[in-house]
Amino acid sequence: MTQRIAILGAKGGVGGTTVAWHLANTLAGQGRSVLLVDLDPAGSLGIHLRQGRKHAREEARFETGMADLLLYPGEKALEPYPWKESSLSILPRGPLSPSEWTSYQEALADPERLGKALDALQDHAAFDLILLDAPGGLHPGAEAAIRNAKLCFLCVQAQPLAGEAAKAALHWIDHIEKEMQDSGQDPATFLGLLSTMVKSKSRLSTTVSEEIRALDPAGLGIEIPYGAIYPAASRLGLSLQEIPTCEAPHKEAFERLATRVLVQVGKASASGEEEDFGPALWDRILQYCRDTAKADAAFVMDTQGLAIASAGPISAEEVENAGTRLMISFEHAGRIDREAGAESIVFQFEKKTLTGLLFRPSEDQSFTLGILSTEALSPQQRDSIVRVAEDLLQGHLTYPSPKVAT
Ligand SMILES: Nc1ncnc2c1ncn2[C@@H]1O[C@H](COP(=O)(O)OP(=O)(O)OP(=O)(O)O)[C@@H](O)[C@H]1O
Ligand SMILES: [Mg+2]
Repeated sequence: MTQRIAILGAKGGVGGTTVAWHLANTLAGQGRSVLLVDLDPAGSLGIHLRQGRKHAREEARFETGMADLLLYPGEKALEPYPWKESSLSILPRGPLSPSEWTSYQEALADPERLGKALDALQDHAAFDLILLDAPGGLHPGAEAAIRNAKLCFLCVQAQPLAGEAAKAALHWIDHIEKEMQDSGQDPATFLGLLSTMVKSKSRLSTTVSEEIRALDPAGLGIEIPYGAIYPAASRLGLSLQEIPTCEAPHKEAFERLATRVLVQVGKASASGEEEDFGPALWDRILQYCRDTAKADAAFVMDTQGLAIASAGPISAEEVENAGTRLMISFEHAGRIDREAGAESIVFQFEKKTLTGLLFRPSEDQSFTLGILSTEALSPQQRDSIVRVAEDLLQGHLTYPSPKVAT
């Protein structure tokens, strides 16, 4: 079932479109079929992707878009643009003449018209997820996006003015959701606030980011760092994965965001789908280990030492041997300090480095993540894996039933 996610901005220019672009690419990189739709009347997604000369070919192809779909439904051929070879498609605003501007704004702000246009897109192709890049601020078009979404979250730049705007935006989202509930509609799940453009070396920026977190303690708790890489990526129409110099914290932030979205999508799905979702989450974290730590293989074991999932060139027997070594080592290591999050152990195993991370999300639940790599993990790599895994556990405390890796 297709799920729609509205990406909102506390005000204009807070990085919403940038977040939408990289989240869409991250989810597509994990094999989801994703459609990114530009709901900004200014057509900023198309502008982002048109800037780079490298993609002049794509520019020439942005001949139709959301504007046609909303203003002339059924009249023009509707083709979201497949992006390169990935499972990402995009639907930019497309051309809009000055005389159409007012009617386009009206159409975007009408939840029913927008809903019909989105349904038409869903009929067109079976997307797993449709990301709605909403206009920034308390815009009627953003309200229509919320009213048509299953999930939403709010981007807030780590800067005082945006922090203030976030407070108003939270009330506004709350109001829309209450109204939907009162009229018997299913309101979108609000995932929380996402701090954007966080400058780790600026006291002001990090303080505002902390204040943003405090506004929504149960929320996402994820920060998108500030970086020159973002304008560059937009200009060239590149995902973070396509930029060799992209540093881990950028990729990690989007991995974490993608995980939170997927966990929530799993919960939002029909019950049958949710059951399948557990193993897919493990696969996600194992893949993250392989991407981040350049691990050759990774696996996860449950409390009883049964393999739940594995990734990379590793046989069921090797998983069992490595897993048993890890379990014994952890037992010898004695009592686990739960405050410390994951406990880790590193040793040599068949000419490779085997890193074990033990997680105890609750009294009677634990799982062990095993990572086999040619070189030992750096503390940063280890920490980022721990953070991603903890995000996963936070949203998904009940374990999938164990299945033996094949
Ligand atoms: N994390 C970041 N670090 C540095 N620059 C960023 C970051 N995120 C976005 N930017 C830059 O900030 C500018 C605004 O970003 P973007 O267009 O994504 O914001 P927006 O919230 O979608 O704005 P609008 O209100 O126009 O929709 C762009 O030039 C973008 O490249
Ligand atoms: Mg935008």
